[in-house]
Amino acid sequence: MLEEIKNTAAWIREQTSGFRPEIGIVLGTGLGDFAEQIEAAYSLDYKSIPGFPVSTVEGHKGRMIFGTLEGRKVVAMQGRFHYYEGYTMQQVTFPVRVMQQLGIRYLFVSNASGGINTSFRVGDLMVITDHINLMPNPLIGPNLTELGPRFPDMHNCYDKELIARATAIAEQENIKLQYGVYVGGTGPTFETQAEYRYFKAIGGDAAGMSTVPEVIVARHMSIPVFGVSVITNCGLSDEIGDHEDVQLQGKKAGVKMQRLFRRMIKEL
Ligand code: HPA
Repeated sequence: MLEEIKNTAAWIREQTSGFRPEIGIVLGTGLGDFAEQIEAAYSLDYKSIPGFPVSTVEGHKGRMIFGTLEGRKVVAMQGRFHYYEGYTMQQVTFPVRVMQQLGIRYLFVSNASGGINTSFRVGDLMVITDHINLMPNPLIGPNLTELGPRFPDMHNCYDKELIARATAIAEQENIKLQYGVYVGGTGPTFETQAEYRYFKAIGGDAAGMSTVPEVIVARHMSIPVFGVSVITNCGLSDEIGDHEDVQLQGKKAGVKMQRLFRRMIKEL
């Protein structure tokens, strides 16, 4: 496993003339536009990268973009691998481990999720303050001791200092932020109404099908994480959202997220 990770990282280094990103960014459903803001130096399709699985989900472009943003060297994943697609947790988290080998010192993650906090509205941005993992843990199996400990601590999983910076920037930029706990389930079904109530009862604010595995492996490797979720629907509402409106709200929220990420990266 470790050898595969290192081989892939070495291959990428070769393709990108030794490009050394400082910041890794994972772009979730509908948020791939952000990649256009990067002054791209190299772009690699997942399908060309040895060791990478191939993304099957619509709306996910499936490539890694290397370049600069606000003068900082970044690598962005346009599209991610989900457990519900049938990949193993090792496959889902493989790119994050590769990005660590390439040198990233921060990981920014984003996703779309269903709000279960009743004060949330469609189009809100939720800063992820913590998560509840309802998927298999990606660290099950022999520990990769070179990467991190057998029993990694998950306190301060979402970096408090980065959250505080996001709050300060959002105030200056007049971006409304919500804060909450992301519950990661396997999908691919959306939750039943009873399940949304259950997620709320156990302390969740938003429900989704990604992010948690990547964050767990990043924290295993002691990489500080910042995460934002775009609320695209409200799970506990009786109304079934108008699909077009949900997409529009998602797009608008994506623009806010991009502004926030950009300024945070500038000020890191
Ligand atoms: N549940 C799970 N994942 C999601 C949802 C949801 O309601 N909305 C967007 N992704």
